[in-house]
Amino acid sequence: MPLVIAMDGPSGSGKSSASKGVARALGLRYLDTGAMYRAMTWWMLEHGVPVEDAAAVAARAAEPVIESGTDPDAPTITVDGTDVSGPIRTREVTNAVSAVSSVPEVRARLVELQREIIGDGGIVVEGRDIGTVVAPDAPVKVYLTASEEARALRRAKDLAADPGATVTVTQAEQARRDRLDSTRKASPLTKADGAHEIDSTELSLTEVVEAIVRLAKEHE
Ligand code: DC
Repeated sequence: MPLVIAMDGPSGSGKSSASKGVARALGLRYLDTGAMYRAMTWWMLEHGVPVEDAAAVAARAAEPVIESGTDPDAPTITVDGTDVSGPIRTREVTNAVSAVSSVPEVRARLVELQREIIGDGGIVVEGRDIGTVVAPDAPVKVYLTASEEARALRRAKDLAADPGATVTVTQAEQARRDRLDSTRKASPLTKADGAHEIDSTELSLTEVVEAIVRLAKEHE
């Protein structure tokens, strides 16, 4: 069975750094599905679609052409040919992405794209529904967590350039996003059957990567 490592967990759990580290260590490709939901959200905002209006979002979900690169050393994401790797990380997109990603038409479209990219495997895929929906047969599934405080601190560092993004504000915005992502009807964030739960609160990035590489080797 070709290797697919499914990496799910809430925001700020260290999924991106760990996923890229594991892909590098094992010579695998890397896919950030969160970036695809962010790219879809960026496009909706650019086109003036009211993101809280699920019907309006659904009606246009087929339009943007979203392309993701899979090199862990240089992940790329474009929408209609434009590089959006910077703009998809703004607070505006971050605070709108849960609404857009709760729309079933958006999920159906992006899950199809994700499965095409996964293809024959050899890839680490990070997101919220990888082990449950996108690749339920993945031989290695990880559910990465960390305390709420540790997660907010990491996010605030990511947003250091934004003066409004204090740890307190970030923690509140993140708690809201986690609540929406975990309680939505379509593919909510949950731990997949057979997923290995790793709490990264007290672990270094190297320790997390090593733990996942060990799991992958057990499955060889
Ligand atoms: O991992 P991230 O914070 O970049 O993800 C952005 C948002 O996209 C997140 O709030 C929920 C959504 N998402 C999703 O619904 N399903 C995925 N597989 C990945 C992300």
